[in-house]
Amino acid sequence: MRIGILGGTGPEGRGLALRLSQAGCPVIIGSRKPDQAALKAEQLRLRLKEMGGPAADLAGLGNSEVVEASDILFIATPFEHAAGLLESCRSRIRQGQIVVDVTVPLQFRAKRLQLRELPEPSASEHLAGFLPEGVPLVAAFKTIPAHLLEDLSQRLDCHVFVCGDSAEARGRIVQVASAIEGLSPLDVGPLRQAATLERMTVLAIQINKRHRVHHSRFRVVGL
Ligand SMILES: NC(=O)c1ccc[n+]([C@@H]2O[C@H](COP(=O)([O-])OP(=O)(O)OC[C@H]3O[C@@H](n4cnc5c(N)ncnc54)[C@H](OP(=O)(O)O)[C@@H]3O)[C@@H](O)[C@H]2O)c1
Repeated sequence: MRIGILGGTGPEGRGLALRLSQAGCPVIIGSRKPDQAALKAEQLRLRLKEMGGPAADLAGLGNSEVVEASDILFIATPFEHAAGLLESCRSRIRQGQIVVDVTVPLQFRAKRLQLRELPEPSASEHLAGFLPEGVPLVAAFKTIPAHLLEDLSQRLDCHVFVCGDSAEARGRIVQVASAIEGLSPLDVGPLRQAATLERMTVLAIQINKRHRVHHSRFRVVGL
């Protein structure tokens, strides 16, 4: 099961690529510039090799080639560019694929960090409308800080919340996430929960700022 990451050259995409590769998944990172993707993939493979792991199946391609080559497709571009990218790749997205949305629609207004106002309650519900009929979208990893994902010396030690309207797709993403060391996936139900997850990310960023930390994240007790 090959995992593709659109916009995989940014910190969140690189972090996901490292952790998923470390977990043994074949990964392709995507970029608008295929050379850039190939170079970043080489750097990530080198980092994994330095950690002493087995040779990673991690490549870099242009975003549209990544769509064609993947079974699970992560969207890891800034939210404001995700719909356009999905529109341009729409004809290559096929039945049987699962799209995983990690975007958080953040913006600064009057020096305050907030969520963009969208026609739908969440970024994920908005982006789901750009997929071909029958291709499920799952929201996940929204509350996991990119720089923590990228720092392989640190244990993630948190929950990753997974929501989506297809129980089968949610289950597959829970299974993929459970392969990542230190991460506990939690199925939180339908896609409408994405609005809460996006707000939780804003809360985590505000906690980081107020308490001068970098990697606050969530773990649920009492399960
Ligand atoms: N940073 C975090 O801690 C964090 C945590 C949770 C979720 N997220 C979400 O994860 C996503 C990625 O975050 P990030 O910090 O990695 O973002 P980023 O560095 O700003 O962007 C990621 C990649 O998106 C591509 N991109 C930029 N503009 C684009 C455009 N106009 N069209 C197509 N692709 C474009 C770029 O790749 P190329 O130039 O190679 O094409 C870039 O490397 C965001 O939606 C963010 O909300 C981030």
